[in-house]
Amino acid sequence: MNRTMQTEIAAKLFTHMAAKSTDLAPEEMYQPTEAYIDPAQAAREREALFRKLPLIVCHASELPQPHDFVTADLVGVPVLIVRQPDGSIRAFTNVCRHRGSRLVTAERGNARLFVCPFHAWTYEGNGALRNIAYPDGFCGVDRQERGLIALPVEQRHGLVWVVPTPGAAIDVAAHLGAAFDAELAGWKIDNAAYERSQSFELPINWKLVMDGFMEDYHLTVLHKSTIGPYMLPNIHEYSAFRSHSRLVAARASMNKLAGQDPKSVDLLPSAIFIYSVFPGTILVWQADHFELWTILPHATDPRRATATARLLAPTADTVEAERALWDKNWKILMDTVQEEDWAAARDIQESIGGGGQSHFVFGRNEPALQHFHREVARATAA
Ligand code: FES
Ligand SMILES: [Fe+2]
Repeated sequence: MNRTMQTEIAAKLFTHMAAKSTDLAPEEMYQPTEAYIDPAQAAREREALFRKLPLIVCHASELPQPHDFVTADLVGVPVLIVRQPDGSIRAFTNVCRHRGSRLVTAERGNARLFVCPFHAWTYEGNGALRNIAYPDGFCGVDRQERGLIALPVEQRHGLVWVVPTPGAAIDVAAHLGAAFDAELAGWKIDNAAYERSQSFELPINWKLVMDGFMEDYHLTVLHKSTIGPYMLPNIHEYSAFRSHSRLVAARASMNKLAGQDPKSVDLLPSAIFIYSVFPGTILVWQADHFELWTILPHATDPRRATATARLLAPTADTVEAERALWDKNWKILMDTVQEEDWAAARDIQESIGGGGQSHFVFGRNEPALQHFHREVARATAA
């Protein structure tokens, strides 16, 4: 985050603190609750968002060495990402070309060859089909044609992005737009390092999981016994960048900075920077590290989602050196999110359809929510 931007945001937060104001949308927005349960809307979202746009799968530091691999499931598309000997990365559908078995079942690892667990067809890390067990049964098969199916993949800002549609184009910079691309570059996320991750299957629509990250209105209320006391109520800076957004929420420690020259204030320990990277990623700067949340809808059921949390340490040498700090942060985060955010979201999901309410209202003080849902509606209307 560059100095000019820190100064601008600090000045704005100081103004809001003095005036007890915050960045507001022009008006309230009414959001149909149907969008969280409708199978037709879910199908449009899969098609327009999760098959066409670049999705963040992992951090590049998760596969640093040649032959390192990571697997993921992108809304029904099993994905295998492999670091090549020349340092580049390739992505494939994690599906055997014989009869479609899941090729690699491990979440991550290092392998020169991938052997299918069903009948032992064997593939190289570049996707080539190396060996067919009992070749007499397949003498007419063209091995060149039966390599793993490639997926468009790009490494940018230290993150690995995939479009889970074979043959599709990928252009992460274009997807981000120049301003947001520059903003992410400023965080030097490529210097960060993977520390740990955890995935959760949730009985909640993916947008409802996203909603919980995109407003600070609830922090001092829902989280009053956990993280709430460390936050200032409803004091934020908000900016939209095409489909993406930034919300900067002030920590209580901002009070100690008030009155200082915004030009020299170090904002990073005293604010939470919450980026929504459209469609399903939340990147959070939490005082001294990043949280990376990838939130994906279920392949068929609109009432289910998968959320994966990653802790990224700011540099590789802090992964081990600060382990006790990461342990502490992770425990607070997991407890808060599971016992408070997702407990509330589960109740909301259950009440949708049965609660007699056709629309939620997003307040003027919830501008990132408004923007996100407008963008989803716009992308799925076409
Ligand atoms: S399905 Fe993979 S070898 Fe048969
Ligand atoms: Fe929360």
